[in-house]
Amino acid sequence: MSPVQTPNIFAPVSTPAFAIRDVSFFVLGITAVIFLIVAGFATYTLIRFGRRPMNPELEPAQVYGSTQIELAWTVVPFLIVVVLFLVTARYIYGIERRPQPPGALEITVVGNQWWWEIRYPNLGIVTANEIHVPVSDGDGSTPTFITVKSVDVAHSFWVPQLAGKMDAIPNKTNRIWIEPRRVGTYVGQCAEYCGLQHTLMLLVVVVHPKDEFRAWVAAQQTPPAEQAAARTGRELFSSLACINCHSIRGTPGNGVFGPDLTHLMSRSTLGAGAVRNTRDNLRAWVKDPGAFKAGALMPAMQLDGTQLDQLVAYLVTLR
Ligand code: CUA
Repeated sequence: MSPVQTPNIFAPVSTPAFAIRDVSFFVLGITAVIFLIVAGFATYTLIRFGRRPMNPELEPAQVYGSTQIELAWTVVPFLIVVVLFLVTARYIYGIERRPQPPGALEITVVGNQWWWEIRYPNLGIVTANEIHVPVSDGDGSTPTFITVKSVDVAHSFWVPQLAGKMDAIPNKTNRIWIEPRRVGTYVGQCAEYCGLQHTLMLLVVVVHPKDEFRAWVAAQQTPPAEQAAARTGRELFSSLACINCHSIRGTPGNGVFGPDLTHLMSRSTLGAGAVRNTRDNLRAWVKDPGAFKAGALMPAMQLDGTQLDQLVAYLVTLR
């Protein structure tokens, strides 16, 4: 089974996405009416004025300009465009001017070739590709305000059921917010072509009940328990070039070029949706990431079978 589900843009579960659906249906409604009128006239003309036998000497009536008709087909479309513009502008303004309430969760999403770094600056949590947020239900609204950045090229943050798209642009900071009303898992995807593995920039947003979210935060803030059986692998990790790109709290690894691995096994996929995060896949990934994700910036580390086993034995303890 593919780790990726297909999100439905017409099934919003979050406040800005409800508004986007409304305005989409409004625009679709108007354009559907225009389509019916144009296609109706075209069909009528085809049938009514089709080719038929007639005197070749006779010319059809020649019409040169009609101020009334020209005015009609200029003014009416202009008015339609003005209405569409005003309605869209009102929705955009309504979404963007929402002030951040004091209880809102603050996160930062950073686009990388080709994965997402997810930071919770006020909670001291760093993870990748999978965002965990609390639901906004009867117990009160707990929206999540998201700062969107990029470290390399332009990406675009898009989880269709939760909000609109927001570009992740190098040297620029963008903001977007979500307020999911229903617990569940919602998938999204980078929506701006960003290179070879643009398709493998999966986003997963897990919306938790409030107490479950608090438990997730506590688990992420706790360093993974050290296990004696994983000592060799842990020392191996600390001695290899892994630490230049990856962070694991409590080890010398503090690199920021690759995903933080402190709670690696709490994530469902490897390579931002490339493959399910299982022990076997993890081993194959460390052996040669390019086998799952051609062009991935993580190199094959040229480890022998024993080293791979030791390293993976350690990595799977990072829960
Ligand atoms: Cu990142 Cu497309």
